[in-house]
Amino acid sequence: MKALILSGGKGTRLRPITYTGAKQLVPVANKPILWYGIESIVAAGITDIGIIISPETGEEVKNLTGKGDRFGAKITYILQSQPLGLAHAVKVAKDFLGEDPFVMYLGDNLIADSLDSFLEDFNNKHLDALILLREVPNPTAFGVAKVDEKERVLQLVEKPKIPPSNLALVGVYFFSHTIHDAISQIKPSARGELEITDAIDFLIDEKKPVEARKLQNWWLDTGKKDDLLEANRIILDTRLEGAIEGELDSSSQATGRVQIGKNSKIINSTIRGPVIIGENCHIENSFIGPYSSIDDEVTLIDTDIEHSVILEGAKVLEIQQRIVDSVIGQRAQLKVAPQRPKALRFLIGDDSQIELV
Ligand code: G1P
Repeated sequence: MKALILSGGKGTRLRPITYTGAKQLVPVANKPILWYGIESIVAAGITDIGIIISPETGEEVKNLTGKGDRFGAKITYILQSQPLGLAHAVKVAKDFLGEDPFVMYLGDNLIADSLDSFLEDFNNKHLDALILLREVPNPTAFGVAKVDEKERVLQLVEKPKIPPSNLALVGVYFFSHTIHDAISQIKPSARGELEITDAIDFLIDEKKPVEARKLQNWWLDTGKKDDLLEANRIILDTRLEGAIEGELDSSSQATGRVQIGKNSKIINSTIRGPVIIGENCHIENSFIGPYSSIDDEVTLIDTDIEHSVILEGAKVLEIQQRIVDSVIGQRAQLKVAPQRPKALRFLIGDDSQIELV
């Protein structure tokens, strides 16, 4: 069994954060989203992993993630030179996959469920495809499945105008080698992509065994700001183990589950968990409220913040109002102007969103 993780794409829905990096590397609780997928695959006993990368962000994904040693896996990087669809990515990975069955995992997705029981069903029932589904309020934004009472898939449609159900395809799929023949038979969709949903539909038309399982727990597609904040909240809620390696001075306090990395200094501040703070941060006269992730090298002075994600090297200084529901990019600076006239002065990147009161 192998695994294929898709880590290409342009991440347009998470701009401007993704102008400078891959969407799969945006951190959730200070760890790249992509790494949760790798860990979940390795936890299911699959260690031969191919990662599809794009020309734009491939080097960054490779440099940060490495050859797999840190995960106990062997990682092979496969370049998809153009984003021509999920089925196209499988085509590009044909040499890596060979005739082996594999799990395909979209690198910007996070699921709480372990893969073990799905993998067991896929193997024991000799399925050609097993897909994972989750009920959603807005099925038109996803691939949607129609399933019978025996969990057999009857039909799949990509981004349907009239959805046949409210069951969305979660970005995790199990395939036998027969998917390669199916992919060779399909044509690009209206959006110009080779759709994996069409390839699975082809298997269904050929009467191959294709089944679905509903996820019992949360699934997050982290492609947008609010989804990213929600992923951050859930991961901090369910997986953070408090550990304080940095220094809290005697006028600071940390309550609840709080993790503070090496060489970080907390001075005259209150941290109310769940909160994760990376290494080499300087936090002074500040309040950090629940569901905040503060990455390495961040400076916060005279600042109140909660339910937010602050990326590496950002500085937030003396902001009078509490900052909530925010994502602040790498090295971004928010501060009060030292000189008059009193006015707002901005240097804001493309596609940024600022909300003032
Ligand atoms: C892709 C798949 C879609 C699936 C979704 C899950 O959509 O094509 O079937 O429901 O991932 O995240 P995309 O994110 O490319 O729009």
